[in-house]
Amino acid sequence: MGWLRLLSEWVGPDGEVVGTDIDDAMLAEAKQFVADGNLGKVTLLKDDLFATRLEPSSFDLVHARYEITPLGRGSEQLTTYTRLVRPGGTVVFFGGLERGAELTVDAYRLHYEELRLVGAFHHTPRTVRAALAFLASGAYPWERLVTHRVDLEGVVGLFADPPRDLLKAAVFP
Ligand SMILES: C[S@@+](CC[C@H](N)C(=O)[O-])C[C@H]1O[C@@H](n2cnc3c(N)ncnc32)[C@H](O)[C@@H]1O
Repeated sequence: MGWLRLLSEWVGPDGEVVGTDIDDAMLAEAKQFVADGNLGKVTLLKDDLFATRLEPSSFDLVHARYEITPLGRGSEQLTTYTRLVRPGGTVVFFGGLERGAELTVDAYRLHYEELRLVGAFHHTPRTVRAALAFLASGAYPWERLVTHRVDLEGVVGLFADPPRDLLKAAVFP
């Protein structure tokens, strides 16, 4: 959700950002976020990424943040994302899978339509410091997103079986 702000700045005056989720609570929070931040050019849609109704080849960039890791079915997700980007477009998949995990992708589109697949992860001291500074800045009432609290032992169970109403969980070691 935090990416909506950056993306809405990056697309410029003629661009458009489409944010999707299947969950009404997440979409409602995103709508509030867009309104509070006065973000332009952002449309929010309810869409199932495993049966998407979005137009194929209609995006320059598909940014999937923390979708492959928590939701699984990674190859199906990549199929959706690569279908949605236009020739020459970029798919960023942000998150982390275990060593040796494999994803399949339509190599024809990679080659002949020159797609770019970009993996991303966030845990460097510099980016964590920047994120903490942003959280502390009060630019947005992020605490509204924290629906659950867990201790360290609870993290594995939370990932394994996330509650329906989970938006974000605060971890108290
Ligand atoms: C870990 S969250 C990441 C949310 C968002 N990408 C972000 O970075 O803030 C995973 C999201 O996937 C959504 N989700 C679960 N199943 C989905 C589906 N089939 N299609 C689309 N979104 C789904 C959940 O509602 C949840 O908001």
